[in-house]
Amino acid sequence: MDLDKAINERRSIRGYKPDPVPREMLEEIIALANRAPSSMNTQPWHFHVLTGEPLEQVRRGNSERMLAGVPPQREIPDHGAYTGVHRDRQVEIAKQLFAAMGIARDDKVMRQDWVMRGFRQFDAPVSIVVTFDRMIEDQGTIAHFDLGAVTYGLVLAAWARGLGAVINGQGIMQSPVVREVAGIPDDEVILTCVALGWPDDEFAANEVRSNRRTVGETARFVGF
Ligand SMILES: Cc1cc2nc3c(=O)[nH]c(=O)nc-3n(C[C@H](O)[C@H](O)[C@H](O)COP(=O)(O)O)c2cc1C
Repeated sequence: MDLDKAINERRSIRGYKPDPVPREMLEEIIALANRAPSSMNTQPWHFHVLTGEPLEQVRRGNSERMLAGVPPQREIPDHGAYTGVHRDRQVEIAKQLFAAMGIARDDKVMRQDWVMRGFRQFDAPVSIVVTFDRMIEDQGTIAHFDLGAVTYGLVLAAWARGLGAVINGQGIMQSPVVREVAGIPDDEVILTCVALGWPDDEFAANEVRSNRRTVGETARFVGF
């Protein structure tokens, strides 16, 4: 697929067919993602690719603890509540998704159901847990930058193959569960996970195209 087309058409996929994803295809995607730039070429990332029973265990553990009211246990600083224009954009995408899914503003049950889907990683057949080397945990935010770059490459490479994905912070809310089930080594920090699989074309939220600011709103040109 043409790169511009992949970048332009990619969107987060939150409804999947149950069909498995071949391991060779996942290896191909990760090999491409690994070409991402990183600070001083440190390549501090690791991918833990889960499917089948281990993934079911992560889903269950994550969902049960969130339902039981266990406070989120992530391994990176919490971003807290967004405010101002960031909150406005958060609300906008939520409205788009709920409208597509026919979830009314005051339908608490369906809204809660939607949140639980996120904790279940939208029932995707694959989850890729993205971690970085703990030895650079205290060296500023650079590892987060590197992992953002590699993760975007990953979802684009998936998209170019007809796969869908959503970067899914909700899926690692209860990181101790993920760490234990997936056997994540102590010298790695869990940053996020990516739910991935074949898009379910009947799932309305998959058609949602989130809005973007324009070039005029995001960029300044100096010296042109
Ligand atoms: C760091 C990060 C964490 C995210 N976590 C979630 C999540 O927990 N649940 C979810 O539904 N989407 C999550 N997303 C997807 C964003 O909501 C999505 O990228 C954004 O709304 C723009 O939509 P698009 O990806 O369809 O262009 C996350 C994205 C990023 C980059």
